[in-house]
Amino acid sequence: MPPREMATGQHGRVRELMGAVVVVVGATGGLGAAVTDELRRRGATVLGAGRGGPDIVCDLRDGGAGDAVVRGALGTEGRLDGVVNAAGVVAFGALADTDPVVVEELFLTNTMGPMWLARSVVPALAETRGFFAAITGVVAEQPVAGMVAYGASKAALSSALAGLRREVRRLGVQVIDVRPPHTETGLAGRPLAGVAPRLATGLDPAAVARRLVQAIVDDEQDVPAAAFA
Ligand SMILES: NC(=O)c1ccc[n+]([C@@H]2O[C@H](COP(=O)([O-])OP(=O)(O)OC[C@H]3O[C@@H](n4cnc5c(N)ncnc54)[C@H](OP(=O)(O)O)[C@@H]3O)[C@@H](O)[C@H]2O)c1
Repeated sequence: MPPREMATGQHGRVRELMGAVVVVVGATGGLGAAVTDELRRRGATVLGAGRGGPDIVCDLRDGGAGDAVVRGALGTEGRLDGVVNAAGVVAFGALADTDPVVVEELFLTNTMGPMWLARSVVPALAETRGFFAAITGVVAEQPVAGMVAYGASKAALSSALAGLRREVRRLGVQVIDVRPPHTETGLAGRPLAGVAPRLATGLDPAAVARRLVQAIVDDEQDVPAAAFA
């Protein structure tokens, strides 16, 4: 059953997720798994995408990842109603101590990849007046020492999402920038380089996922860190 929109949301519509076909990129990660669970709880059909699949195998650093996402969704489900990018990598350490290859890797995965993904999936999302949600993070709005390249990669994506939102508004495509604070997924323990500073206990991934999915349903465009307080 195709999803419906009802004309009463915060910004004019409420999105019905029952029957919606959503691809979660980074579905094997802490936040991606929690978002997948929450979308399924609300009745969506979720396809997990990423280097390890499970449903669509793609690497965000490859410009063809978005085409693989569209092919996978249309090929198996016949439609694409939404894409959530929950993939990303982190690195720690002073910029002067960070290898240029690490900086490049951060921007490839966190900035260029999601932008390539977005440009490839927008035409399919325009067909369904769908949504593109990406998790940038609190660092996109509050730069911190020791995470300069990571923060810059996220701030750049945040800027791209704000511009894209304006470009695709007339197509009816919802673009959401989600900027959660530190969350207990284990990401900080898997850096490309460096060592994480001591961090206070982070948010519960399930709570972050509920807030993200609520933003999709309520037709929100921007979920700043303060929205997770
Ligand atoms: N955890 C936090 O405190 C926090 C806070 C704010 C924002 N965020 C952001 O939220 C997103 C998810 O973070 P998380 O905490 O859930 O991290 P995570 O548990 O490490 O998950 C990261 C996911 O990204 C995927 N991935 C990495 N590189 C990829 C690539 N080149 N192509 C496709 N998939 C790739 C990983 O899959 P494979 O490695 O299996 O391919 C994994 O599924 C990231 O963008 C992160 O920056 C996290």
